[in-house]
Amino acid sequence: MEIKFLGHASLLITIGESRLLVDPFISGNEKAANIIDVNALHPDYILLTHAHQDHILDAESIAKRSGATIVSNYEIATHYQTKGINVHPMNHGGNWSFDFGTLRYTNAIHTSSFPDGSYGGQPGGFIISTEEKQVYIAGDTALTMDMKLIPMTFKLDLAILPIGDNFTMGIEDAVIASDFIQCDNILGYHYDTFGYIEIDHKLAVKSFENAGKTLHLLPIGASLVV
Ligand code: NI
Ligand code: MN
Repeated sequence: MEIKFLGHASLLITIGESRLLVDPFISGNEKAANIIDVNALHPDYILLTHAHQDHILDAESIAKRSGATIVSNYEIATHYQTKGINVHPMNHGGNWSFDFGTLRYTNAIHTSSFPDGSYGGQPGGFIISTEEKQVYIAGDTALTMDMKLIPMTFKLDLAILPIGDNFTMGIEDAVIASDFIQCDNILGYHYDTFGYIEIDHKLAVKSFENAGKTLHLLPIGASLVV
C-alpha cells in the first residue's frame, strides 16, 4: 500500500490497481496547489471523513470528472448522491468490503457541517484493511477513549493522526492516541496549512521518538509505503 501526502489532510492511497483519494483539499491550499495537479488525479474512490471545507473542497469536481465513488457517512453520501455522484454511505462502527479491501468508519470527536452550515452528519475516520496491511486514518479528532477499541479488532501497520492542535489533537495527545491504538508507526497530518495549526517539526518527531515510536512528516507530494 502506497500513501502519498497531498497536503493538509489529503492523501492518495494506492492499493494494487485501486486508487483511494482521502479528503481532497488541494486547489484551496496554497501550500499544495502548485505541487499537486488536481486534474491529474483519477481516483476510483474518494473517502471523506467529514464535511468541513478543508476536507471536501475538490471532492465534487474530481468525482464528476473521474466517476469515482464517494464513501462517507450517510449524510455526506446523500449530499453528493443528489448531485448525481456515485456514493457508498456508511456510519460509525460499520464495515464494508470493497474491491481493494474492507473499510470501517470509525468514531471521531469533532464537528461536520458543510461550508453553507448544513448538516454533514457526525465526523469519523477510516480503517483500511487489506490481506496484508491495516491502516487507520483518524480524520479530524480529539484524543478519545474510543481509540482503545481499535486494537481489540485491528493490528495497525500505520496510523495517520492529526497533530496540528487547535482544531484537533496536538502532538502530546497524538502520542497518547498512538498508545491507545497500539501503533508505533505514525504519519502526521493536518498541520502547518494555516496559522492556527503550525507545529514545531523537531519537537513533534522527538516527542514520538521519546515514546519509542516513529513519526513521519512527509513533504507535500512525497509517499510512504507500508
Ligand atoms: Ni474539520
Ligand atoms: Mn480539518
